[in-house]
Amino acid sequence: MVKDRLEQILGCFKNMRVAVVGDMMLDDYIIGTVERISPEAPVPVVSVKKERFVLGGAANVINNLATLGAKTLCFGVIGDDSDGDRLLNEFRKMGIETSGVIRTEDRPTIVKRRIIAGNQQLLRIDWEDSRPINSDLENTLLENIKRNLDGIDAIILSDYDKGVLTPKVAKEIIKIARDKAIIVTVDPKPKNAMNYIGATSMTPNRKEAMECLGMTRSDDMIAVGEELKSKLNLTNLLLTRSEEGMSLFDEDQVINIPTYAKEVFDVTGAGDTVISVFTLAAATGVTTWHEAAKIANTAAGVVVGKMGTSTVTKEEIIEFYNRIYKEWV
Ligand SMILES: Nc1ncnc2c1ncn2[C@@H]1O[C@H](COP(=O)(O)OP(=O)(O)OP(=O)(O)O)[C@@H](O)[C@H]1O
Ligand SMILES: [Mg+2]
Repeated sequence: MVKDRLEQILGCFKNMRVAVVGDMMLDDYIIGTVERISPEAPVPVVSVKKERFVLGGAANVINNLATLGAKTLCFGVIGDDSDGDRLLNEFRKMGIETSGVIRTEDRPTIVKRRIIAGNQQLLRIDWEDSRPINSDLENTLLENIKRNLDGIDAIILSDYDKGVLTPKVAKEIIKIARDKAIIVTVDPKPKNAMNYIGATSMTPNRKEAMECLGMTRSDDMIAVGEELKSKLNLTNLLLTRSEEGMSLFDEDQVINIPTYAKEVFDVTGAGDTVISVFTLAAATGVTTWHEAAKIANTAAGVVVGKMGTSTVTKEEIIEFYNRIYKEWV
């Protein structure tokens, strides 16, 4: 793929409308210093200097898509609480369409709050209720999605197993998407794999792919990928393989794409970047699944070089692509 072609594909991103359905969360950091022990209990007293949060789970997929310029719509369930306000405010600031997000008093917004002092994490506090959403919420969520389907180019199901993607929600979305010929890709949790039969594509990592088939280990990842693609009746499957890059199972072919990441600092969220870029590139309709996977692999190579859950820009993809694939043309 030459530079012009890559730029042409990335140039289409801004015209794409992508819906994300899944478990949105906040990763929150309270950073301070410790100078004394509490008189109330033998615990350190943290004097807070800074607070910040990053978007996590499905919200990180949404963040990745918006950063790449796609029109992004989000669907999920969050709490009717101040953390939910923070999540939605952040989305709105980024121009993300949030009318598909349901707020409920039945469950909190999922937050993982870390308390850090002197570069050390002292404590993490989690708010979550990961029970499957009830049938009223399921129906409202599905209604919201159906109402917003016009002009949608792709749907991403981002499953962190926190209750939004129930069997009914997952199966019904795949059915609607297939009827309307909309691409639907899934970042799965293995125990829910069978809900995703008939999706367009799936992006499990090695461990997830094995677990989707009830295996705990295998020396033959190619056989695992082929079996999973066929069992779930997927159009294609993108198996992410950490330091080994990724393998695309498309039609009867397996294409291995090595990673070119030189500086690996933090792989957190690389999977979210992969599904975002892979789906967005494929949605443009001007590329093949193979090219989409190569672009996603390039984006993952950039994101693993950044600290924390991160996103990449189109410019960073182009710059890295030119560096690694110079000799390809
Ligand atoms: N150690 C690594 N070295 C180089 N590239 C990596 C490494 N880890 C991840 N990558 C890149 O990121 C992609 C996705 O990584 P991985 O297979 O670990 O997904 P994942 O487990 O779903 O990630 P996560 O759940 O942390 O978001 C890989 O296909 C590869 O391009
Ligand atoms: Mg993952």
